[in-house]
Amino acid sequence: MGRLDGKVAIITGSTSGMGRDTAYLFAKEGAKVVVTGRNEERAKAVVDKIKAEGGKAIYVIADTSNRDAAKKIYDETMKAYGTVDILINNAGKLSLTPVQQMTMEEWDAVFNVNVTSALLLTQLCEPELKKNLGHVVNISSVAGTAAKWGPIAYCTSKFAMVGMTRAMAREMGPEVHVNGICPGAIMTAMLEGSGADATIEFMKATAPLKRVGEGSEIATACLFFATSDSSFVTGQLLRVDGGVDA
Ligand SMILES: NC(=O)c1ccc[n+]([C@@H]2O[C@H](COP(=O)([O-])OP(=O)(O)OC[C@H]3O[C@@H](n4cnc5c(N)ncnc54)[C@H](OP(=O)(O)O)[C@@H]3O)[C@@H](O)[C@H]2O)c1
Repeated sequence: MGRLDGKVAIITGSTSGMGRDTAYLFAKEGAKVVVTGRNEERAKAVVDKIKAEGGKAIYVIADTSNRDAAKKIYDETMKAYGTVDILINNAGKLSLTPVQQMTMEEWDAVFNVNVTSALLLTQLCEPELKKNLGHVVNISSVAGTAAKWGPIAYCTSKFAMVGMTRAMAREMGPEVHVNGICPGAIMTAMLEGSGADATIEFMKATAPLKRVGEGSEIATACLFFATSDSSFVTGQLLRVDGGVDA
């Protein structure tokens, strides 16, 4: 018997990285998983693997820099599974542009993907989440706790996810639990493509655990927040970062 038998879980940004690892873990635990992202080939590969291992999943192709994306994800989830129990707001866009070079196009794109789409999808899912005593997990970052881990737009958007987590927990309780995770350096496509090699080496050298993390180590934290293991925890942000600021 799985920890999430029969639960419907939307995981945004699950065509890759920690979202994909969370999709695999949740499917193994019995959830019906909704995989989302822009890349259909990778989305299909995630769903095919889940199905090949006996799990249940669908994918929804949606670009969350577009504000209509949340409705498409919600509508297709309801059509396929009829409800939502767990929402993991994970899709994210990295931005390394400094203050003086920041354009409003880039700023809006980062905020739409990292913040606004999470609000819009949570708004749509709230009635089902309340009915099901559900769970929301927002993926922030250590860049949502200190500016040294990310330049202006990324840092500001991830701080916003900390505030959003606390505000949602207050407004959506007692029925819905809302928590967040602040990952440190996690070995995913985003980290590999960041070019922030010096920061990664610094994190490895200075963190007590002396390494970067794996996506599966974020997936297990998501599982904790999506089950009754965290029954008296809401509005909290868990750092999963190898102790980098310890
Ligand atoms: N890796 C790290 O070190 C680290 C540290 C702290 C926080 N985080 C956060 O963790 C989350 C997951 O990142 P990751 O490291 O797993 O990166 P990743 O492997 O690059 O995955 C990012 C996911 O987000 C989706 N996504 C990006 N832009 C999108 C858009 N416009 N519309 C729809 N989906 C979009 C991608 O899907 P498609 O490519 O298919 O669109 C992909 O599935 C992000 O919120 C990130 O900010 C990462």
